[in-house]
Amino acid sequence: MCGIVGYVGPKDATPILVEGLRRLEYRGYDSAGIAVISGGRLERRRAAGKLGNLEAVLRSTPVSGHIGIGHTRWATHGRPSEENAHPHADASRQLVVVHNGIIENYLELKERLSATGIVFETETDTEVVAHLVASYYEGSLEAATGRATKDLRGIYSLVLMHVGEPGRLVATRLGPPLVIGLGEGERFFASDVQALLAHTRRFVFVPEQTVVVIEPDAIRIVDAQGRIVPFKEETITWDPVQAEKGGYRHFMLKEIHEQPRAVRDTLLGRMSLDTGDVRLEEMGAAALEAIEKADRVQFLACGTSWHAGLIGQFFMEQLAGVPASTDYASEFRYRDPVISPGTLAVAISQSGETADTLAAMREARSRGASVLAITNVAGSQVTREADGALLTHAGPEIGVASTKAFTAQVAAIALLSIFLGRRKGALSAAAGRNLLAALARVPQLMDHALSCAALVEDMSRSLFKATDFLFLGRGVQYPIALEGALKLKEISYIHAEGYPAGEMKHGPIALIDESLPVVALIPRGRGYEKILSNVQEVKARGGRVVAIINRGDDHVRKILGKEDLFIEVPGVEVDVLGVSEIFSPFVTVIPLQLLAYHVALRAGRDVDQPRNLAKSVTVE
Ligand code: F6R
Repeated sequence: MCGIVGYVGPKDATPILVEGLRRLEYRGYDSAGIAVISGGRLERRRAAGKLGNLEAVLRSTPVSGHIGIGHTRWATHGRPSEENAHPHADASRQLVVVHNGIIENYLELKERLSATGIVFETETDTEVVAHLVASYYEGSLEAATGRATKDLRGIYSLVLMHVGEPGRLVATRLGPPLVIGLGEGERFFASDVQALLAHTRRFVFVPEQTVVVIEPDAIRIVDAQGRIVPFKEETITWDPVQAEKGGYRHFMLKEIHEQPRAVRDTLLGRMSLDTGDVRLEEMGAAALEAIEKADRVQFLACGTSWHAGLIGQFFMEQLAGVPASTDYASEFRYRDPVISPGTLAVAISQSGETADTLAAMREARSRGASVLAITNVAGSQVTREADGALLTHAGPEIGVASTKAFTAQVAAIALLSIFLGRRKGALSAAAGRNLLAALARVPQLMDHALSCAALVEDMSRSLFKATDFLFLGRGVQYPIALEGALKLKEISYIHAEGYPAGEMKHGPIALIDESLPVVALIPRGRGYEKILSNVQEVKARGGRVVAIINRGDDHVRKILGKEDLFIEVPGVEVDVLGVSEIFSPFVTVIPLQLLAYHVALRAGRDVDQPRNLAKSVTVE
C-alpha cells in the first residue's frame, strides 16, 4: 500500500525522500512523487510508474530544500497517473499533503468544497484533504489539520506541509501506520521503520486520532481536545543490512534462505528443554493469564498468515487439546461470530498493520475474547491493541510474497500450543521435552531442505509454461498446499488451486489432464497412504505429478512414472502422541516457495514486487 516519507532538518531533503521511498517500494505502488519547500516556494515532482521515472523527472528538473514529503501511491481512487500521484496541493499552492488510506466521504466533501468555488484537478480522494485543510488554515497547519480531521470519515495516515511554516511537518492518522524517526537535529516521518533504518533506529509510533508536529529538534503530539499526549521513544534492533539483498538476486530468495535463522531466532530463549516447557514471560502477566484460562482458540489472519493459523489449528488441537478455529480476518465480523467467555483470539500478522486483522481483533474483543498478537514488527498496531504480543524474530521481510515470516509464525504458534498444552495437562513434561527437542532440530532440517534449490530451479524449466497448477495435501499439509498455490499465483500470475487431497474426487479431478501439473505433498505420517491413493488417481487420468517426499522414500518413487518429478525433503519426526508429522510443514513449504520463485523468474515476473500487490494491506 501507499508509502509516506517526510523530512525536516539541515540536509537536502530530496535524496532522503527518494531513498526512503525506495525502501518502501516493497509495499507496492504505481506512481510516486515528492514536494519540497525551495526558495520560499512549494516545488512538486511526480511521475506515474516506478521510482526510476520520478528520478528521471528530478534529473531534468532538480529541486532541493531542507523540508519535504514524498509518497508512493497504490491507486484506489483514480488511475495511476502523474496528476493523480501525491503530493496533492490546495488551490493556492501553499499546502501539500500525502495520504495512505481511503477518505470514505470524499464525494460529499468534494461537493461542499466545489460549492465554494474550488476547482478539483484530480480524481483522487486525497485532493479533498488538501482543499479542506486549506479552507481551515489561519496561520497554523496544526490547528487546521485538527479541525479537518473532524470532517473526515474513513482511514488515513496524512502528512502535510505549508509554505508559510517551512520548519515543520504535520501529521495525523486513523488506521494506517506512521512512525516518527529521530535523528540528531532532524526528524522524519515514514509509513514504516524500514524507510528510515539508514538514518536512525530511534522511533516514536504515531498514536491514532492525534495531530503530530515535527521540527528538527522537537515533537509535539496533541489529542482531539488539544491536550498534549506523552510519547515513548522505541529503539528498533533491526540491522539495516538485514534489509539489503546480501548478494541474492531478489529479497524473496534471500528470505527463503533465511528461514532456518528466522525459526531459530523465534524459538531462541523460549524453550526450556529440561522442563519440557515454554517460557513466555515476555508477554506480560495479563496475557499469560488469558492464555492459561483459554478453553478455545480463534485464529484471525489474512493470506499467508491465515495459512499459519490453519496449521495452528492442528497444533492447538493435537498438542494442547484445545478446540481451535481459523477465520479470514476480512470475513470474521460479517458472520456474527459466537465467542464464548474463555476464547483466546490470536491475531497473526507479519506487518502488524493489516486493516482487516485489526478490525477482526476488535470484533473478537468486543464479543468478550482476550486477544493476543503474533507479529514480526515490534510496536506495530496489533501489539498496541492486544493483551500481549508474541514476536516472531524473522527480521525485516521485504519481498511481497511472505516466506520467512510464515515459518517464523508457525514456530511461534507451536510454542504457544506447547505452552497451553502444558498448562492444560494435555502434555506431560516428557511429551513437552520431546516436542521441544523436535522443534529445536527444525532449523537444521530446514537448512537441509534448502539443498533442493538447484533441483527446483532445473524443474521450473519444464513447468513455467503451464497455465494451471493443482496443489494437494492432507491434514497439516493441506494448509501448505494452499500456501504453495498462493505463492505461485501471486508472483508468477499462473492460476493455481490448493485442495485437501481427499476433496479432489469431489470436483477438481475433472481438471486433470497431461497439461496440469499436480503438486502433491507426501511426507510420511498419518495421511501418507491416503494421499498416495490420490496420486494414483491423478496418474490414472494422465496427470503429471510433482511429488514432495521424504528423503529415501523409494515406495513413492516406484509409483511415480518417468514424466513425474519428485523433490526430497528431510523427515521431521516427533515421537509423541501419534502426531509424528506435525512439524513437517516447516520443511515441505520450502520447495514450494522455491518452485514459485523459479517459475516466476522464468516467466519474467517482478518477483519482489508483483503487480497489483501490496506488502502491508492497510485498507479494508
Ligand atoms: C502472501 C502475503 C499476504 C499476507 C497478508 C497478510 O505472500 O504476504 O497474503 O500474508 O496480506 O499480511 P500480514 O501478515 O502482514 O497481516
